Amino acid sequence: MFNRVTALQPLKALCPIGVFDSGIGGLSVLRALQKELPQERFVYLADNAHAPYGEKSEDFVSQRTHAIAHYLQTQHQIKALVVACNTATAAAIQGLRAAYPTLALVGVEPALKPALALSSTRRIGVIATRGTVASVKFSRLLASVKDEAHFVVQACNGLALAIEQSTLPDPSHDAQAQITRLLQTYTQAMGHFGSAPGDIDTLVLGCTHYVFVEHDLRTLLGPDVQLVSTGEPVARQTHRLLAAASLLNAAQPEGAEPAMRLLTTGDLKGLQAAAQRWLGLPEEACEAVPASL
Ligand code: DGL
Repeated sequence: MFNRVTALQPLKALCPIGVFDSGIGGLSVLRALQKELPQERFVYLADNAHAPYGEKSEDFVSQRTHAIAHYLQTQHQIKALVVACNTATAAAIQGLRAAYPTLALVGVEPALKPALALSSTRRIGVIATRGTVASVKFSRLLASVKDEAHFVVQACNGLALAIEQSTLPDPSHDAQAQITRLLQTYTQAMGHFGSAPGDIDTLVLGCTHYVFVEHDLRTLLGPDVQLVSTGEPVARQTHRLLAAASLLNAAQPEGAEPAMRLLTTGDLKGLQAAAQRWLGLPEEACEAVPASL
């Protein structure tokens, strides 16, 4: 018998992968995805008009996540969705799985388990947004590993926003100084970092924005502390999921749409500057979409 799903599969494989975050943080995941899956097309949505997610209610973040998933499916025919935001994953991934049972869906969560494999002192730091730290999903994750090491968890209000502001073409105030101040305050509150017994020797970056201040963290914490992020494992998981569903794109046909389209519900210039800085993309790769999508 003619199987419609199987017959449509090759066409579906040509569709883009949707990726989204509250802002530019998910570009750190997009960078890893592009490296892992160079034949694929991506459409990235930065929900800047509603950022930062980490300081909004779980209901609000969940509503935005559903609206964006719907928009990317109906307007861009995505074949998979990567929720490149820890806060949105914590608030909405379960609901999304129920609402889109046939969509290949990948979320991100703070890399506590990978950190266990790296830590010698068994003291592990975790920095994330307030929303992630306060979520039931994170509490469960922490409970599942808490007997194997001591975890020091710190919510970092204001940090994702300062990172957004630092990439604007004309930052209105000294966002870089603000980043340094916030990182100092939050890491000092967590205790001593280093490789001696009792030190925190591993720091989990539980927000996709924080990858862009890795260099500042390294300067602050010294060379012995391991910084753990999730872009690469998420990219590998996306690869596995697409392969299992026979949705990998073998090659781009002639005249195909551009491989990267970046959309924002907020300030276009900000996204353009970040896309140029972090991914080397031209301004034309970015466009503004309505904040109310
Ligand atoms: N990048 C996001 C995360 O991974 C959220 C940052 C924010 O909007 O607060 O949690």
